[in-house]
Amino acid sequence: MNRFYITTPIYYVNAKPHLGHAYTTIMADCMKRFHLLQGEESFFLTGTDEHGDKIVKAATANEQTPKEYVDKISALFQNLLLATGAQNDHFIRTTDSKHKQTVQSILQKVYDNGDIYFGEYGGHYCFGCERFYTEKELVNGFCPDHKTVPEYISEKNYFFKMSKYHDWLVEYIKEHDDFITPVSYRNEVLASLELGASEDLCISRPKTRLEWGIELPFDSEYVTYVWFDALVNYISALGYPEDDSFQKFWPSAHHIIAKDILKPHAIFWPTILKSAGIEPYQGLHVHGYWLSNGSKMSKSVGNVVEPLAMIKKYGIDAFRYFLLREMVWGQDSSFSEELLVGRLNADLANDLGNLFSRTLSMTQKYFGGIVPVSLDEDLVDLEIKNLGRASMENFQKYMLEFQTARALESLWVLVRGLNKYIDTTKPWEVHKAQNEKRLGSIIYTLLESMRKLALHLWPIIPEAANMMFKQLGIAFAPEKFVLSKEADVWGILESGTTVAAESNLFPRVELVIEEKEENIAALEKKAVEFEDFEKLDLRVATVLAAQKHSDADRLLVVQLDIGQDEPRQIVAGIAEDFIPEALVGKQVLIVANLKPRKIRGKLSQGMILAAKDAEGLQLLSPFKQISAGAKVS
Ligand code: ME8
Ligand code: MG
Repeated sequence: MNRFYITTPIYYVNAKPHLGHAYTTIMADCMKRFHLLQGEESFFLTGTDEHGDKIVKAATANEQTPKEYVDKISALFQNLLLATGAQNDHFIRTTDSKHKQTVQSILQKVYDNGDIYFGEYGGHYCFGCERFYTEKELVNGFCPDHKTVPEYISEKNYFFKMSKYHDWLVEYIKEHDDFITPVSYRNEVLASLELGASEDLCISRPKTRLEWGIELPFDSEYVTYVWFDALVNYISALGYPEDDSFQKFWPSAHHIIAKDILKPHAIFWPTILKSAGIEPYQGLHVHGYWLSNGSKMSKSVGNVVEPLAMIKKYGIDAFRYFLLREMVWGQDSSFSEELLVGRLNADLANDLGNLFSRTLSMTQKYFGGIVPVSLDEDLVDLEIKNLGRASMENFQKYMLEFQTARALESLWVLVRGLNKYIDTTKPWEVHKAQNEKRLGSIIYTLLESMRKLALHLWPIIPEAANMMFKQLGIAFAPEKFVLSKEADVWGILESGTTVAAESNLFPRVELVIEEKEENIAALEKKAVEFEDFEKLDLRVATVLAAQKHSDADRLLVVQLDIGQDEPRQIVAGIAEDFIPEALVGKQVLIVANLKPRKIRGKLSQGMILAAKDAEGLQLLSPFKQISAGAKVS
């Protein structure tokens, strides 16, 4: 039996999870589900990395012990896992006692093998990276990653003879095309190896400097360097060396990471395994960064997107679909809610959702909701089947290469093809002409194709796929299907099955950006270019009513006459300076064409202009009464 072992990095618990972490986890889950559908026995591992300086610093900053702190943050990662719909088989924590034992046994093996020596080392240490930098690697004296000045530290430590395995590793990478993918990262690793990336690795930290780690089995004055500890998770979680799971799954191990941790995975890890007498993993699969406002999403930059908020707002499937459809494997991608909503409306609500709702309502109308028999096939049916075969074959080929964006692009050829098939076969006319036989074939072709779509989509959008199966009257279980056969089989959906009368899988959504209350003042103060100023639609407005926001002390919800039929509602951060009644009848200036946004759950369309000094806030007003809605220029 074929097997598939898939892992994510174990995430540092020095900060809350963000969208980048959610993506890697969703990607791994998607791959696990895809391989399950190939009939493979699959194992999906994720977890948290809990030792090292970084964690101690974060715990201290939060006035907690490292243990209290790691328990708290690890739980957040476990919550996120649930929220993403991930079906992981195990969650490892490097503070688990089984893991600690395995790290020590590997260290002992490598030590006994003569690959660890004691020596003195001085270097520029970056706490953010948890590693030493050479003079050459620094950029004008700064850490290239954190843009901070590393600390010069000189101390006695243990070293792993990584350089001993340099030639072996270069050969191994060259002989195994799929060892590191995409190929650009494979080339990057080979180039860095040529520049000396495999020089001996410092693998200990003296306890005088750091206690929060796994003690070296051969020297109790030292703890293990966090990367040596962390990488071993991939085998300790399988119960190395004695457990069946290790024997079963390690020969089919695939790691997913982002490019930030390429070096430890591509260089440290295979050489550690080699020294310990363990076969290397099968594949290292590397993705790019999610960017937000143009730079890598990260806690230190302060541009992180909260995955839980997005899931709550748009649903888990729309979120998964967006991430898997948008990021081209290996490259960076930008995240924005505009892009997400665009894809949700175009691909899911329009293309996929419409296909289901149109077809199911026609089945209801013409056949009382019963899957008809197909007795009169036509050339167009053959054409759409051929299109479907190619589309599914491409999907599967790309999924095997972790290329979910291309896979979905390929599958949507079928989704759009089926909508077009409805437009060209015009079932309503066939019905009018009372050609029941032909109508049966058209509807059957659609329903059977939709079954295939649901199956292919299960790894991507599992909840919606389950709903699709339900609507098609199918009891779904992954082990009942083999995806690789689907491109060629036809006629699995049984005639006579009752299907749902209607379907509303993905309702369209409007983009409404929710602003945090703290940001309102900042937004109201933002400076603009002249061209930007010209874009503003400034108007005079008369206050009709105002009341305190039920959910926020600083906010007023104001109704304004802006010379249109409907009053305008604006939520303004002025409750500390004005009592609501005093505003009624007053004229103010507003920005009328701001994008609508929800502020603490209330819709706000525009902004009231105000000025502030030491005395407090004043609203801007016309000199004399003027018609509501008059334009300011
Ligand atoms: O590096 N875009 O943990 P970490 C895409 N503990 N993916 C991102 C991302 C972004 N902007 N930000 C983070 C560690 N990720 C170590 C790993 S493994 C033995 C030890 C994802 O919390 C991506 O998978 O910094 C990246 O490789 C990982 O989170 C880094 O997580
Ligand atoms: Mg990181």
